[in-house]
Amino acid sequence: MRVIVASNYDEMSEQAAALFAELVAENPTATVLPATGNTPMGMYRALAQRAGRGELDASRLRVFQLDEYCGLGQDDYRSLFGWTQRSFIEPLGISAANVTRLPGDAANPEAACASYEQKVIESGGIDIAILGLGPNGHLGFNEPPSDRSDPTRLISLTPESIVSNGPYWGGEDRVPRQAVTAGMTVILAAKTILLVVSGKSKRSILKETLQGPTTPNVPSSFLQQAANVTVLADQDAYRF
Ligand code: PGA
Repeated sequence: MRVIVASNYDEMSEQAAALFAELVAENPTATVLPATGNTPMGMYRALAQRAGRGELDASRLRVFQLDEYCGLGQDDYRSLFGWTQRSFIEPLGISAANVTRLPGDAANPEAACASYEQKVIESGGIDIAILGLGPNGHLGFNEPPSDRSDPTRLISLTPESIVSNGPYWGGEDRVPRQAVTAGMTVILAAKTILLVVSGKSKRSILKETLQGPTTPNVPSSFLQQAANVTVLADQDAYRF
């Protein structure tokens, strides 16, 4: 595992964008699993700027949605799919035909998760996963406890995630209680993983992620066993 410590959030975002741009230059049709959340947004803005300046052509990437709240349609503004579209897919000019949703509104979530995994396999697996770090160590919506062998599935949000997502929803009582998430298996098998982590509030969970025992109680700790992980953290997060 490689750790790159940047002096602040903007620098971290630029470095993450630069690394990602290198990977895209090597493999312009890579499969990508891009996280939502606040942390990767600076990186995505930096990527959009590079694309706008003609320095990056990410238009042929194939995108797999990382996670989604249950009960929201694709066009719902609050959906994670919508967020991924606005922040990553549209600014980089990726065509809808190259995007695989993980639907939170499927009549049969189990079948939808199985079909998603099948599509990941048919695409040759995930080349690049861009991950944020949940305050409770979740990756995507693999809430604790999640084991390294857990597949793409329906999960219930932990009370901690309901609290941390409350501000996005205008109150904790409005946060959906369930979500679907790419499995730990899908994430951990990614050929390259970029984990972006910012801010003091992530310091202790980052320490557990990097130095703690590998345990389902901290799903992100399994990154210690993944093949090719680069952690990009700012100094506020990486100070221990
Ligand atoms: P954040 O979310 O980037 O908004 O901190 C991370 C997460 O909960 O996965």
